Amino acid sequence: MSLDSAQTTAPFPIPANTFVETVTEVEHYTDRLFRFRMTRPASFRFRSGEFVMIGLPNAEKPVLRAYSIASPSWDEELEFYSIKVADGPLTEHLQKIKPGDQVLMRKKPTGTLVTDALLPGKRLYMFSTGTGVAPFASLMRDPETYEKFDTVVLLHGCRESAELAYGTQIVTQTLEDPLVGECAAGRLHHYTCVTREDHPRRMRITEAVTSGRIFEDLGLPPLDPEVDRVMICGSMEMLKDCRTLCEEAGMQEGSNSAPGVFVVERAFVD
Ligand code: A2P
Repeated sequence: MSLDSAQTTAPFPIPANTFVETVTEVEHYTDRLFRFRMTRPASFRFRSGEFVMIGLPNAEKPVLRAYSIASPSWDEELEFYSIKVADGPLTEHLQKIKPGDQVLMRKKPTGTLVTDALLPGKRLYMFSTGTGVAPFASLMRDPETYEKFDTVVLLHGCRESAELAYGTQIVTQTLEDPLVGECAAGRLHHYTCVTREDHPRRMRITEAVTSGRIFEDLGLPPLDPEVDRVMICGSMEMLKDCRTLCEEAGMQEGSNSAPGVFVVERAFVD
């Protein structure tokens, strides 16, 4: 259930243009990562892959941070995937939320990791590290993604295997989903890399691409600007290296106003 400001239990006034939503589910994966679900306002529309500003009603001027919406646009609730930072202005509090708690959400979603910002293509590559997998958890569960692309590849890199759990869970859910499972079957590929412990693919995602290993393993041709499209989400350094990699493959960056061959967005949260 969505609440209007008169119904909240918060001792502080609710900022303008902000929804107050109720947490419905929380799942912790590691001491650094968790996801939560909350109610979705009936009037809230977004495109799969977009982000929105999130905060807690715990201050006169609450701290709001950009969070990719991890649930698809058809879902009746909203899901978010978050890092926990011990002294992070928002996440030190957000990591303690429980079902029934309230979360603030600004009314306007935005972002470039949307299929509208890409030219039509054959294969969609989603390059992610850490919590940068969140927008792709939305896109991979959206039937429109499979209407626009024949093949969808989620490439996800983390420090440790335990940090891959959310991505793996979402891929499994997608394949079992009554709405999207059939479209995704045989067309959605999940390729994981781990950098800081033993793993069959112990490397950064950039190395998986530049070495050609991912293409060999999946039986796909190397990146081709004519037919391949790339979305990138991770840390600033990761974005920089992935952008260079795409440019070296002859790809041009796109935006909502000028669709292109690849698009980039920072995984913002601290
Ligand atoms: P590494 O362990 O070599 O730093 P983080 O949790 O710090 O965001 O990192 C998530 C994953 O992203 C880690 O595996 C990390 O590897 C990797 N990573 C960090 N920087 C880059 C980069 N510039 N390009 C590709 N992967 C990166």
